[in-house]
Amino acid sequence: MSGARGAGARPASGARGAGARSVSGARGAGARQASEGHRASRAQRAARTLRASESRRDTGAPRASRSRRTSESQQVSQSQRDAGAREASGSQRVSGSRRAKPPSTPKKRSGPSVYIFGAGKVGVALADVIRKIGGKVVLRAAREGLPKRPIEAELLVFAVRDRELPTFATRFAEAGLVSRKTACVHVSGAATAESLAPLRAVSAGVAQMHPMISFASLRRWPSLDGGHVHVQGDPKAVSRARSLARALGMTPRTFPDLDTIGYHAAAGLVANGAAALAAIGVHVLATAGVPPEVAPKMLGPLLHSVADNIKALGFPDALTGPVRRGEPQSVARHLELLRARVPDAVPLFIAAGFAQLPLAKALGEAPASSFDAIRSILHDAATPTASSTTLSPGSSLAPTPSNEQMPRE
Ligand SMILES: NC(=O)c1ccc[n+]([C@@H]2O[C@H](COP(=O)([O-])OP(=O)(O)OC[C@H]3O[C@@H](n4cnc5c(N)ncnc54)[C@H](OP(=O)(O)O)[C@@H]3O)[C@@H](O)[C@H]2O)c1
Repeated sequence: MSGARGAGARPASGARGAGARSVSGARGAGARQASEGHRASRAQRAARTLRASESRRDTGAPRASRSRRTSESQQVSQSQRDAGAREASGSQRVSGSRRAKPPSTPKKRSGPSVYIFGAGKVGVALADVIRKIGGKVVLRAAREGLPKRPIEAELLVFAVRDRELPTFATRFAEAGLVSRKTACVHVSGAATAESLAPLRAVSAGVAQMHPMISFASLRRWPSLDGGHVHVQGDPKAVSRARSLARALGMTPRTFPDLDTIGYHAAAGLVANGAAALAAIGVHVLATAGVPPEVAPKMLGPLLHSVADNIKALGFPDALTGPVRRGEPQSVARHLELLRARVPDAVPLFIAAGFAQLPLAKALGEAPASSFDAIRSILHDAATPTASSTTLSPGSSLAPTPSNEQMPRE
């Protein structure tokens, strides 16, 4: 995806508010960028491998690629329906003239065929990226209600809120919307495959397919390239989800005994905690003279560099800053400034400082006494009486600005 590589992504065309929409990349895509072409062939290879291996396993199961195309295009816009009709009439003309197909003509294969139910932040992003790799996608907003026709795609992705999963699974199963040719997955981090259990008996299997990526917007989404997806559940659903993940440039991971709550807690702490820390950072920067509209543009690349360091170096090496260097004076100065200007940030600063100490000690780039001094500064600051006595009304720091912009729970 273009978005997949580097610059984020453009929105899926009208992903919102129109019920089911085909975002098939097969039609109307025009000339694609070389990178997308490359990714398309990767997706096609993945889809080919998947189909080949599954058709071997499913001896006798009907191949439904043609009816799949027909059925899904029935759910799309009029112009797309017209295009489908044109395709159909074209093939009728060919058969009417009784022209035999040359046996050597290679069959054109499309990328993965996916139905996404839920047009929230994850749903629209996945739809767009799958389209960009040449996949065939139908995206339906959950608030539009259940699909009107049975699902023909090889993978049904539930991208709805976690608490809705069992209800929708039951409703899809009871309405007969899923057959054994479709595997069903959800993208929740906390829920296991069992959230889709009502679909197990009527489908090709159920699984969790959680992208460990942060999707914050309906209009712009991050690169999926290089991200990881946790996949767990029934064999065929796992196999298809892993194939899709690879086609998207992601690394599928399967930890069979994963505690999904702990896994999700870690992902949320890092992703959401980082966003909250950066929001406070914007405020602190504003008090230091950086315009608030500029601050996120400065902090984004900073976080990027942290992310790069974490990925490339791991811990403790990814740590930087005054705690690593063993600089108690810097820590004390920062604390004093925050107390005076942004007191709401002090507890986070203290917690973050404590969390850095074991990393800094493991790196050992300063005498142990420096780390002891930092620990005692943080400890004193964490003690309410110590904090209040340290707060000096006559601080040499600039006057405390309003904290109205501070994010609060
Ligand atoms: N966001 C992330 O970073 C992220 C990352 C990995 C996994 N996930 C998982 O992905 C799933 C979907 O998350 P999401 O972030 O895409 O959630 P979302 O944007 O809130 O959308 C999820 C669902 O909520 C509905 N929705 C959106 N706004 C609503 C409103 N104001 N009132 C009622 N319903 C509303 C959407 O309905 P329509 O379909 O009708 O639009 C959609 O089906 C969850 O299981 C989540 O755990 C999220």
